[in-house]
Amino acid sequence: MRSVFATAVALSAVAASSAKQIVITVGGNTTNNASTVFQPAEVTANIGDVVFFNFTQGNHSAIQSEFASPCIPAHDTNITVNGFNSGPRDAGNGTAITNLPVTVTDNNTIWFYDANTCAEGGVGGINVNESSTETLDGFRRNAIRLNGTSTSTSSSLSATRTGAGSSSTSTSSVSSKSSGAERPVALGFAAVVPMIAAALLL
Ligand SMILES: *[C@@H]1O[C@H](CO)[C@@H](O)[C@H](O)[C@H]1NC(C)=O
Ligand SMILES: *[C@@H]1O[C@H](CO)[C@@H](O)[C@H](O)[C@H]1NC(C)=O
Ligand SMILES: *[C@@H]1O[C@H](CO)[C@@H](O)[C@H](O)[C@H]1NC(C)=O
Ligand SMILES: *[C@@H]1O[C@H](CO)[C@@H](O)[C@H](O)[C@H]1NC(C)=O
Ligand SMILES: *[C@@H]1O[C@H](CO)[C@@H](O)[C@H](O)[C@H]1NC(C)=O
Ligand SMILES: *[C@@H]1O[C@H](CO)[C@@H](O)[C@H](O)[C@H]1NC(C)=O
Ligand SMILES: *[C@@H]1O[C@H](CO)[C@@H](O)[C@H](O)[C@H]1NC(C)=O
Ligand SMILES: *[C@@H]1O[C@H](CO)[C@@H](O)[C@H](O)[C@H]1NC(C)=O
Ligand SMILES: *[C@@H]1O[C@H](CO)[C@@H](O)[C@H](O)[C@H]1NC(C)=O
Repeated sequence: MRSVFATAVALSAVAASSAKQIVITVGGNTTNNASTVFQPAEVTANIGDVVFFNFTQGNHSAIQSEFASPCIPAHDTNITVNGFNSGPRDAGNGTAITNLPVTVTDNNTIWFYDANTCAEGGVGGINVNESSTETLDGFRRNAIRLNGTSTSTSSSLSATRTGAGSSSTSTSSVSSKSSGAERPVALGFAAVVPMIAAALLL
Protein backbone atom coordinates (compact mmCIF):
# COMPACT_ATOMS: atom_id res chain seq x y z
CA MET A 1 0.00 0.00 0.00
CA ARG A 2 2.61 2.36 1.12
CA SER A 3 4.74 1.99 -1.98
CA VAL A 4 1.76 2.26 -4.26
CA PHE A 5 0.79 5.48 -2.59
CA ALA A 6 4.32 6.81 -2.80
CA THR A 7 4.51 5.95 -6.47
CA ALA A 8 1.26 7.71 -7.20
CA VAL A 9 2.41 10.81 -5.41
CA ALA A 10 5.72 10.76 -7.25
CA LEU A 11 4.04 10.36 -10.59
CA SER A 12 1.59 13.15 -10.06
CA ALA A 13 4.37 15.40 -8.83
CA VAL A 14 6.35 14.70 -12.00
CA ALA A 15 3.32 15.33 -14.17
CA ALA A 16 2.46 18.54 -12.38
CA SER A 17 5.94 19.93 -12.47
CA SER A 18 6.93 19.08 -16.01
CA ALA A 19 3.85 19.28 -18.24
CA LYS A 20 3.42 22.53 -20.06
CA GLN A 21 0.93 24.04 -22.45
CA ILE A 22 1.98 25.16 -25.88
CA VAL A 23 -0.37 27.30 -27.93
CA ILE A 24 -0.51 27.24 -31.71
CA THR A 25 -2.74 29.97 -33.06
CA VAL A 26 -4.72 28.87 -36.11
CA GLY A 27 -5.77 31.50 -38.61
CA GLY A 28 -4.74 34.40 -36.43
CA ASN A 29 -2.87 35.98 -39.28
CA THR A 30 -5.25 37.50 -41.74
CA THR A 31 -2.76 37.75 -44.57
CA ASN A 32 -3.25 35.50 -47.55
CA ASN A 33 -0.10 33.52 -46.92
CA ALA A 34 -1.22 29.96 -46.15
CA SER A 35 2.16 29.17 -44.64
CA THR A 36 1.24 31.40 -41.72
CA VAL A 37 -2.03 29.67 -40.85
CA PHE A 38 -0.33 27.89 -37.94
CA GLN A 39 1.64 30.22 -35.71
CA PRO A 40 4.12 28.96 -34.88
CA ALA A 41 4.11 26.20 -37.50
CA GLU A 42 6.74 24.25 -35.61
CA VAL A 43 6.90 23.57 -31.88
CA THR A 44 8.91 21.41 -29.52
CA ALA A 45 7.04 19.45 -26.86
CA ASN A 46 8.00 16.96 -24.19
CA ILE A 47 6.02 13.87 -23.37
CA GLY A 48 3.01 14.94 -21.32
CA ASP A 49 2.90 18.46 -22.72
CA VAL A 50 -0.36 19.66 -24.23
CA VAL A 51 -0.43 21.45 -27.57
CA PHE A 52 -3.44 23.75 -27.84
CA PHE A 53 -4.65 24.53 -31.33
CA ASN A 54 -6.39 27.86 -30.83
CA PHE A 55 -8.77 28.54 -33.73
CA THR A 56 -9.05 32.30 -33.73
CA GLN A 57 -9.87 33.45 -37.24
CA GLY A 58 -11.47 32.02 -40.37
CA ASN A 59 -12.45 28.48 -41.20
CA HIS A 60 -9.62 26.06 -40.51
CA SER A 61 -8.80 22.65 -39.08
CA ALA A 62 -5.90 20.78 -37.50
CA ILE A 63 -5.55 17.20 -38.67
CA GLN A 64 -2.72 14.77 -38.06
CA SER A 65 -1.08 13.34 -41.17
CA GLU A 66 2.12 11.61 -42.20
CA PHE A 67 5.19 13.02 -43.89
CA ALA A 68 4.66 11.37 -47.27
CA SER A 69 0.99 12.35 -47.46
CA PRO A 70 0.73 15.80 -45.91
CA CYS A 71 -2.89 16.54 -46.75
CA ILE A 72 -4.41 13.14 -45.96
CA PRO A 73 -5.52 12.19 -42.44
CA ALA A 74 -3.04 9.78 -40.88
CA HIS A 75 -5.87 7.36 -40.30
CA ASP A 76 -6.49 7.16 -44.03
CA THR A 77 -2.91 6.28 -44.85
CA ASN A 78 -2.51 3.94 -41.89
CA ILE A 79 -5.73 2.52 -40.51
CA THR A 80 -4.14 1.69 -37.18
CA VAL A 81 -3.31 5.31 -36.44
CA ASN A 82 -6.00 7.34 -34.75
CA GLY A 83 -4.55 10.76 -35.33
CA PHE A 84 -6.24 13.87 -34.04
CA ASN A 85 -8.75 15.64 -36.25
CA SER A 86 -10.45 18.84 -35.20
CA GLY A 87 -12.96 18.82 -38.02
CA PRO A 88 -13.71 22.23 -39.53
CA ARG A 89 -13.62 25.00 -36.95
CA ASP A 90 -15.12 28.21 -38.24
CA ALA A 91 -14.02 30.98 -35.89
CA GLY A 92 -15.60 33.67 -38.00
CA ASN A 93 -13.86 36.96 -37.56
CA GLY A 94 -12.70 36.05 -34.09
CA THR A 95 -16.27 35.57 -32.91
CA ALA A 96 -16.25 31.81 -32.24
CA ILE A 97 -12.86 30.86 -30.85
CA THR A 98 -12.38 27.16 -30.00
CA ASN A 99 -9.49 24.97 -28.95
CA LEU A 100 -8.25 21.48 -29.67
CA PRO A 101 -5.92 20.17 -26.96
CA VAL A 102 -3.53 17.42 -28.04
CA THR A 103 -1.41 15.62 -25.47
CA VAL A 104 2.00 14.52 -26.66
CA THR A 105 2.62 10.90 -25.74
CA ASP A 106 5.99 10.15 -27.32
CA ASN A 107 9.01 11.78 -28.92
CA ASN A 108 8.13 11.09 -32.54
CA THR A 109 7.43 13.85 -35.00
CA ILE A 110 3.74 14.70 -35.31
CA TRP A 111 2.76 16.27 -38.64
CA PHE A 112 -0.49 18.14 -39.16
CA TYR A 113 -2.34 20.27 -41.70
CA ASP A 114 -5.32 22.52 -42.26
CA ALA A 115 -7.70 20.98 -44.78
CA ASN A 116 -8.60 24.34 -46.31
CA THR A 117 -5.07 25.59 -46.97
CA CYS A 118 -2.93 22.45 -47.09
CA ALA A 119 -2.46 22.61 -50.84
CA GLU A 120 -1.00 26.10 -50.44
CA GLY A 121 1.27 25.13 -47.57
CA GLY A 122 -0.97 25.31 -44.50
CA VAL A 123 0.93 22.68 -42.51
CA GLY A 124 3.01 22.28 -39.36
CA GLY A 125 4.83 19.86 -37.10
CA ILE A 126 5.53 18.98 -33.48
CA ASN A 127 9.05 17.79 -32.62
CA VAL A 128 10.39 18.07 -36.15
CA ASN A 129 13.97 16.89 -36.54
CA GLU A 130 15.41 19.58 -38.80
CA SER A 131 18.66 17.61 -39.08
CA SER A 132 16.89 14.69 -40.68
CA THR A 133 15.59 14.38 -44.23
CA GLU A 134 12.10 15.19 -42.98
CA THR A 135 12.04 18.92 -42.41
CA LEU A 136 9.09 21.26 -42.15
CA ASP A 137 10.09 22.87 -45.44
CA GLY A 138 10.15 19.44 -47.07
CA PHE A 139 6.74 18.61 -45.65
CA ARG A 140 5.36 21.91 -46.94
CA ARG A 141 6.86 21.35 -50.38
CA ASN A 142 5.20 17.91 -50.45
CA ALA A 143 1.86 19.47 -49.55
CA ILE A 144 2.10 22.04 -52.33
CA ARG A 145 3.45 19.59 -54.90
CA LEU A 146 0.67 17.09 -54.23
CA ASN A 147 -1.82 19.96 -54.10
CA GLY A 148 -3.90 18.32 -51.44
CA THR A 149 -4.63 15.37 -53.64
CA SER A 150 -5.94 12.10 -52.44
CA THR A 151 -7.43 9.13 -54.12
CA SER A 152 -10.37 9.46 -51.81
CA THR A 153 -11.82 12.86 -52.35
CA SER A 154 -12.23 14.99 -49.29
CA SER A 155 -14.30 12.50 -47.38
CA SER A 156 -11.91 12.78 -44.58
CA LEU A 157 -13.20 15.51 -42.41
CA SER A 158 -15.77 14.40 -40.02
CA ALA A 159 -18.17 17.24 -39.78
CA THR A 160 -18.12 17.80 -36.11
CA ARG A 161 -18.82 21.32 -35.20
CA THR A 162 -18.52 21.94 -31.57
CA GLY A 163 -19.29 24.66 -29.18
CA ALA A 164 -16.79 27.05 -27.78
CA GLY A 165 -14.04 25.53 -25.77
CA SER A 166 -15.09 21.99 -26.22
CA SER A 167 -12.72 19.49 -27.55
CA SER A 168 -13.69 17.33 -30.38
CA THR A 169 -11.60 14.27 -30.82
CA SER A 170 -13.23 12.92 -33.87
CA THR A 171 -10.42 10.66 -34.71
CA SER A 172 -11.19 7.35 -36.20
CA SER A 173 -13.58 8.79 -38.68
CA VAL A 174 -14.54 7.67 -42.06
CA SER A 175 -14.09 5.31 -44.74
CA SER A 176 -10.70 5.12 -46.15
CA LYS A 177 -10.61 3.86 -49.64
CA SER A 178 -7.26 5.32 -50.42
CA SER A 179 -5.11 2.97 -52.35
CA GLY A 180 -2.14 5.16 -51.75
CA ALA A 181 -0.59 3.41 -54.68
CA GLU A 182 0.20 6.52 -56.60
CA ARG A 183 1.87 8.28 -53.77
CA PRO A 184 5.57 8.08 -53.25
CA VAL A 185 6.44 5.75 -50.47
CA ALA A 186 8.54 7.07 -47.66
CA LEU A 187 12.13 6.19 -48.07
CA GLY A 188 13.18 3.42 -45.78
CA PHE A 189 12.02 5.11 -42.66
CA ALA A 190 9.93 2.99 -40.42
CA ALA A 191 8.22 5.76 -38.64
CA VAL A 192 6.05 4.63 -35.86
CA VAL A 193 3.27 7.07 -35.86
CA PRO A 194 2.51 8.42 -32.49
CA MET A 195 -0.74 7.70 -30.87
CA ILE A 196 -2.18 10.92 -29.76
CA ALA A 197 -4.57 11.26 -26.95
CA ALA A 198 -6.67 14.32 -26.84
CA ALA A 199 -6.85 15.56 -23.34
CA LEU A 200 -9.98 16.97 -21.91
CA LEU A 201 -8.58 19.89 -20.08
CA LEU A 202 -10.43 23.13 -19.95
C1 LIG B 1 1.40 37.77 -40.48
O1 LIG B 1 2.19 37.33 -41.57
C2 LIG B 1 2.96 38.37 -42.14
C3 LIG B 1 3.64 37.81 -43.38
O2 LIG B 1 4.27 36.59 -43.09
C4 LIG B 1 3.95 38.84 -41.08
O3 LIG B 1 4.72 39.92 -41.61
C5 LIG B 1 3.21 39.34 -39.86
O4 LIG B 1 4.11 39.67 -38.84
C6 LIG B 1 2.26 38.28 -39.34
N1 LIG B 1 1.42 38.83 -38.29
C7 LIG B 1 1.28 38.25 -37.12
C8 LIG B 1 0.36 38.89 -36.14
O5 LIG B 1 1.87 37.20 -36.82
C1 LIG C 1 4.79 32.91 -46.50
O1 LIG C 1 5.24 32.60 -45.20
C2 LIG C 1 6.37 31.75 -45.18
C3 LIG C 1 6.65 31.36 -43.74
O2 LIG C 1 6.66 32.49 -42.91
C4 LIG C 1 7.54 32.48 -45.84
O3 LIG C 1 8.67 31.63 -45.85
C5 LIG C 1 7.15 32.83 -47.27
O4 LIG C 1 8.17 33.60 -47.86
C6 LIG C 1 5.86 33.64 -47.30
N1 LIG C 1 5.42 33.81 -48.67
C7 LIG C 1 4.98 34.97 -49.13
C8 LIG C 1 4.54 34.98 -50.55
O5 LIG C 1 4.92 35.97 -48.41
C1 LIG D 1 -6.76 31.87 -28.03
O1 LIG D 1 -6.70 33.14 -28.68
C2 LIG D 1 -7.55 34.10 -28.10
C3 LIG D 1 -7.51 35.34 -28.97
O2 LIG D 1 -6.19 35.74 -29.21
C4 LIG D 1 -7.09 34.36 -26.68
O3 LIG D 1 -7.96 35.30 -26.06
C5 LIG D 1 -7.10 33.06 -25.89
O4 LIG D 1 -6.56 33.26 -24.61
C6 LIG D 1 -6.29 32.00 -26.61
N1 LIG D 1 -6.43 30.72 -25.94
C7 LIG D 1 -5.39 30.07 -25.47
C8 LIG D 1 -5.67 28.74 -24.83
O5 LIG D 1 -4.25 30.50 -25.56
C1 LIG E 1 -15.42 25.23 -43.55
O1 LIG E 1 -14.56 24.37 -44.29
C2 LIG E 1 -15.11 23.08 -44.53
C3 LIG E 1 -14.08 22.27 -45.27
O2 LIG E 1 -12.93 22.09 -44.51
C4 LIG E 1 -16.39 23.21 -45.32
O3 LIG E 1 -16.95 21.93 -45.48
C5 LIG E 1 -17.36 24.11 -44.58
O4 LIG E 1 -18.50 24.31 -45.38
C6 LIG E 1 -16.72 25.45 -44.27
N1 LIG E 1 -17.62 26.24 -43.46
C7 LIG E 1 -17.96 27.48 -43.79
C8 LIG E 1 -18.89 28.18 -42.85
O5 LIG E 1 -17.53 28.02 -44.80
C1 LIG F 1 -12.75 41.68 -38.18
O1 LIG F 1 -12.76 42.34 -36.91
C2 LIG F 1 -11.88 43.44 -36.84
C3 LIG F 1 -11.91 44.01 -35.43
O2 LIG F 1 -12.57 43.18 -34.57
C4 LIG F 1 -12.30 44.51 -37.85
O3 LIG F 1 -11.36 45.57 -37.82
C5 LIG F 1 -12.30 43.88 -39.24
O4 LIG F 1 -12.80 44.82 -40.18
C6 LIG F 1 -13.17 42.66 -39.27
N1 LIG F 1 -13.03 42.01 -40.58
C7 LIG F 1 -14.08 41.56 -41.26
C8 LIG F 1 -13.79 40.92 -42.58
O5 LIG F 1 -15.22 41.65 -40.84
C1 LIG G 1 12.04 11.56 -25.04
O1 LIG G 1 13.04 12.56 -25.17
C2 LIG G 1 13.56 12.97 -23.90
C3 LIG G 1 14.48 14.15 -24.16
O2 LIG G 1 15.34 13.89 -25.23
C4 LIG G 1 14.26 11.79 -23.24
O3 LIG G 1 14.77 12.19 -21.99
C5 LIG G 1 13.25 10.66 -23.06
O4 LIG G 1 13.91 9.52 -22.56
C6 LIG G 1 12.59 10.30 -24.37
N1 LIG G 1 11.52 9.36 -24.10
C7 LIG G 1 11.27 8.32 -24.89
C8 LIG G 1 10.14 7.43 -24.47
O5 LIG G 1 11.93 8.11 -25.90
C1 LIG H 1 17.82 13.82 -36.14
O1 LIG H 1 18.20 13.29 -37.38
C2 LIG H 1 19.58 13.05 -37.46
C3 LIG H 1 19.88 12.61 -38.89
O2 LIG H 1 19.06 11.53 -39.26
C4 LIG H 1 19.97 11.98 -36.43
O3 LIG H 1 21.35 11.75 -36.48
C5 LIG H 1 19.59 12.47 -35.04
O4 LIG H 1 19.82 11.46 -34.09
C6 LIG H 1 18.12 12.85 -35.01
N1 LIG H 1 17.81 13.47 -33.74
C7 LIG H 1 16.85 13.01 -32.95
C8 LIG H 1 16.63 13.76 -31.68
O5 LIG H 1 16.15 12.05 -33.25
C1 LIG I 1 -4.84 22.40 -57.03
O1 LIG I 1 -6.13 21.96 -56.60
C2 LIG I 1 -7.13 22.95 -56.77
C3 LIG I 1 -8.41 22.46 -56.13
O2 LIG I 1 -8.56 21.08 -56.30
C4 LIG I 1 -7.31 23.24 -58.27
O3 LIG I 1 -8.29 24.22 -58.46
C5 LIG I 1 -5.98 23.74 -58.83
O4 LIG I 1 -6.07 23.93 -60.21
C6 LIG I 1 -4.85 22.75 -58.51
N1 LIG I 1 -3.58 23.36 -58.89
C7 LIG I 1 -2.65 22.69 -59.56
C8 LIG I 1 -1.39 23.43 -59.86
O5 LIG I 1 -2.82 21.54 -59.93
C1 LIG J 1 0.99 1.93 -39.15
O1 LIG J 1 1.21 2.51 -37.86
C2 LIG J 1 1.68 1.57 -36.90
C3 LIG J 1 1.82 2.32 -35.58
O2 LIG J 1 0.60 2.78 -35.15
C4 LIG J 1 3.02 1.00 -37.34
O3 LIG J 1 3.43 0.04 -36.41
C5 LIG J 1 2.87 0.38 -38.72
O4 LIG J 1 4.16 -0.02 -39.17
C6 LIG J 1 2.29 1.38 -39.70
N1 LIG J 1 2.04 0.74 -40.98
C7 LIG J 1 2.52 1.25 -42.11
C8 LIG J 1 2.18 0.49 -43.35
O5 LIG J 1 3.18 2.28 -42.14
